[in-house]
Amino acid sequence: MLAARTAVGWVREGMVVGLGTGSTAAPFIRLLGQRVRDEGLRIQATATSRASDELAREVGIPLLEPRRGLRFDLTVDGADELDAQLRLIKGGGGALLREKVIATASDYLLIVADSTKAVRQLGHFPLPLEVVPFALPWVLDAVADLGGAPVLRMSKDNPTEPARSDQSNLLVDCHFQAIADPAALAAELLPIPGMVEHGLFLGLASSAVVVLGGQAQVWRPGQNPAPAARFTALP
Ligand code: A5P
Repeated sequence: MLAARTAVGWVREGMVVGLGTGSTAAPFIRLLGQRVRDEGLRIQATATSRASDELAREVGIPLLEPRRGLRFDLTVDGADELDAQLRLIKGGGGALLREKVIATASDYLLIVADSTKAVRQLGHFPLPLEVVPFALPWVLDAVADLGGAPVLRMSKDNPTEPARSDQSNLLVDCHFQAIADPAALAAELLPIPGMVEHGLFLGLASSAVVVLGGQAQVWRPGQNPAPAARFTALP
């Protein structure tokens, strides 16, 4: 909540905002809706999942459909893991594809997280992949060859059925345990046919608000954390 509150304070009049997905992004969407309603803050937004789209509508945030040339001044999203260089694992909520599309179309990606997400090395959290159903067996073979111990994600509501992304694709969680070279792994995953997107977000995050012991810190790639109270606008 503190991370969301810090991030929402950095949204300015007229911004086009990308709305993330998950339990840390959701309070940001609610607080942003509150600013739209209470302060008459004029912003427009696009959500990274159907769930966040519904929440944004519910709280009164004006939404933009995807279109050519659309860029985001600021996107606020959660992460499953982040390291000191702000390399991320995302997709625990299954929204990695739309999240990466919006992150890539953003001038500023701000990650909101608590300190449990911060790691020295990525990979303990299983790396999610979005996979076209027809290609699943071969994607599993290819990821196993890379040492990823892939597991097909099952639906929480119906555990006998596979989970589906918003695009009706499958989700595969890869248990690498430790990813020594995230860029090299990303390069090995990309050419696998039918692997639509992977959850490594490299060079995309501009900064992160990380809550540690009840205090919000601002992290920037490779820099020492600074107290969030020092910033009144985007760091
Ligand atoms: C959704 O697919 C994810 O990338 C989320 O952003 C990530 O899983 C963080 O979610 P929480 O904030 O719920 O931990």
